[in-house]
Amino acid sequence: MAPIITIRNLKKSLAGVPVLKGISLNFEEGAVSSIIGQSGSGKSVLAKHIIGIMKPDEGDVCFKGRSIAGADEGELVEIRRHFGYSFQGAALFDSMSVHENIAFPVREVLKITDRREIDRMVTEQLEWIGLPGIEEKLPAELSGGMRKRVGVARALVTKPEVLLFDEPTTGLDPVLGETINDLVSRVNRELGLTCILITHDIQATFRISDRIALLHDGVIAAAGTPRNVSRSAHQMVQKFISNSFNSLEV
Ligand SMILES: Nc1ncnc2c1ncn2[C@@H]1O[C@H](COP(=O)(O)OP(=O)(O)OP(=O)(O)O)[C@@H](O)[C@H]1O
Ligand SMILES: [Mg+2]
Repeated sequence: MAPIITIRNLKKSLAGVPVLKGISLNFEEGAVSSIIGQSGSGKSVLAKHIIGIMKPDEGDVCFKGRSIAGADEGELVEIRRHFGYSFQGAALFDSMSVHENIAFPVREVLKITDRREIDRMVTEQLEWIGLPGIEEKLPAELSGGMRKRVGVARALVTKPEVLLFDEPTTGLDPVLGETINDLVSRVNRELGLTCILITHDIQATFRISDRIALLHDGVIAAAGTPRNVSRSAHQMVQKFISNSFNSLEV
């Protein structure tokens, strides 16, 4: 599989503290790739570089060979159209219905204004995530798991090539977390999207990912297939894995 996103020697300091100290990593087209690492290790900062919300101090991120670091705002808007993303803590808009939430990127990103076309796209997404008929509900009326799924629908409605999802399962009970992970698997299998997942759910990561990268101390401490990563001799990797599994065959 060819890389769709390449990250080379990415460095970023925030408030004078080096967070990313030289990240090099490729994401393969059509694969599910996960980024794992301790809280505060820089996973969300890395995700923000992938779609150009943050600019690197050094190094670059390329999407299909196009530099994101060097892109101007117009080019970034164009590049971001290829991404569906849901950021950590980026909840649904509380005052908007489910319909309005999902319709938002249709209007803003795709610039579609035809009411019937928008309705059709929203309905199609809700059916696809298995929550038909909730168009008029407000986020407060939904469970946490339903909100997350609507977040996935909102990320998918623009028909992106890459789904970038930060912390999809955090705060959910294990069964609901599973539902989200299964949804990501389905997005990958049925829609053929490249999926980049940032998660604390290590067990699920090893089950659904084609590739895993462990971010530690500002660099990629281990990367590869779940099997290869689980066999890495890196001390942090082993600590991470042994804390997350009692016994596991991967
Ligand atoms: N805008 C910012 N300004 C200053 N420091 C920041 C900023 N964003 C992140 N940081 C710092 O960068 C480090 C990495 O943060 P980041 O949010 O990427 O961690 P994370 O790996 O996503 O953690 P978690 O698993 O808890 O989500 C932290 O020390 C954080 O305080
Ligand atoms: Mg984070």
